[in-house]
Amino acid sequence: MALLAFETSCDETSVAVVSEGQILANSVSSQIKLHAEYGGVVPELATREHLRNLLPVAREALNNSGLGVEQLEAITATRGPGLPPALVIGWRVAQAIAYALNLPLISINHIEAHLYSPWIDEGLSSANFNAFQPNVSLIVSGGHTLLVHVRGLHDHTVLGGTLDDAAGECFDKIGKLLGLAYPGGPVLDRISVKGNPAAYQFPRPLLNDSTDNFSFSGLKTSVRYFLEKNPKLKEDDKQLPDLCASVQAAIVEVLVKKTLRAAAHQGVDCVTASGGVTCNRLLRAGLAAACDKQGYSLHLAAPKFCTDNAAMIGILAEEKFKSTNKPSTIDADIKPGWTLA
Ligand code: KG4
Ligand code: ZN
Repeated sequence: MALLAFETSCDETSVAVVSEGQILANSVSSQIKLHAEYGGVVPELATREHLRNLLPVAREALNNSGLGVEQLEAITATRGPGLPPALVIGWRVAQAIAYALNLPLISINHIEAHLYSPWIDEGLSSANFNAFQPNVSLIVSGGHTLLVHVRGLHDHTVLGGTLDDAAGECFDKIGKLLGLAYPGGPVLDRISVKGNPAAYQFPRPLLNDSTDNFSFSGLKTSVRYFLEKNPKLKEDDKQLPDLCASVQAAIVEVLVKKTLRAAAHQGVDCVTASGGVTCNRLLRAGLAAACDKQGYSLHLAAPKFCTDNAAMIGILAEEKFKSTNKPSTIDADIKPGWTLA
């Protein structure tokens, strides 16, 4: 079957065409530069940009796919969670197209799409669900930090999540304290390459507690106090890489150790990770080294499928529709607070 997929839950406008587990097209228009000026996503601006860009992005995706509208067999979109005024654009457009073409509409939970994105093979751009293994999955982005036990396709339990800030939010807020461009995550990653991760000791919150929960706001506060006491450090080109590397090391150590500990508790042989922060080089290397040492197989979402994209929405929608054959009701509303079951 061929599906047209929409993703507008935050600040990427994305449309994809997928068919039989293959990604025929995946167009993404990022709003990062627009929001950078304000140091974070401005919902009103995001909405206007989605409105402006959605149809051109959809036209590009359809052109790239080589399919005509008459070949589409289903429409899918992110229904939640996300920013309500942003979500509503993609969801309403998907509803209108499904209604006009009399096609089934499949609603997708954005977090669940991240959860299965490690099974999209980057080189082949196709879903590799044949290789699926029960796993413990880390979903780590600007809005979420979750550990999930995935027993089978569409059979999972959330083990824990952040009690306050998400890991990506922590990277971005500390980036702001350090005077770096938004979003801070990729900038910190880049600057850290030249730094010493042991130069400064920042807290590793909840590292040794018995739950699968995370907490990152205390780390951010401790960096803030540290910078208030040492105001010159961030302006010093020689010290900044050490600061960035030390902050990154604290965040990544917590993510890696808690993920591996959850995998051991659940008795799985496989670990996966997805979401924007999974682009981080130290996190990728840290998970790879720990999984190698402890004998787990590791599936990391490919960097281009870590940040928000419609391909992961389409891949999950096709898989779900084939296994359940259940479309959404055409007039269903968005679900901004939709949690992962
Ligand atoms: O998944 P995503 O595109 O959007 C959300 O659903 O939140 O993730 C965006 C987040 C931002 O916080 C960004 O700073 C972070 O992912 N991020 C990174 C890196 N690339 C993106 N964080 C650390 N290192 C990176 N290389
Ligand atoms: Zn996301």
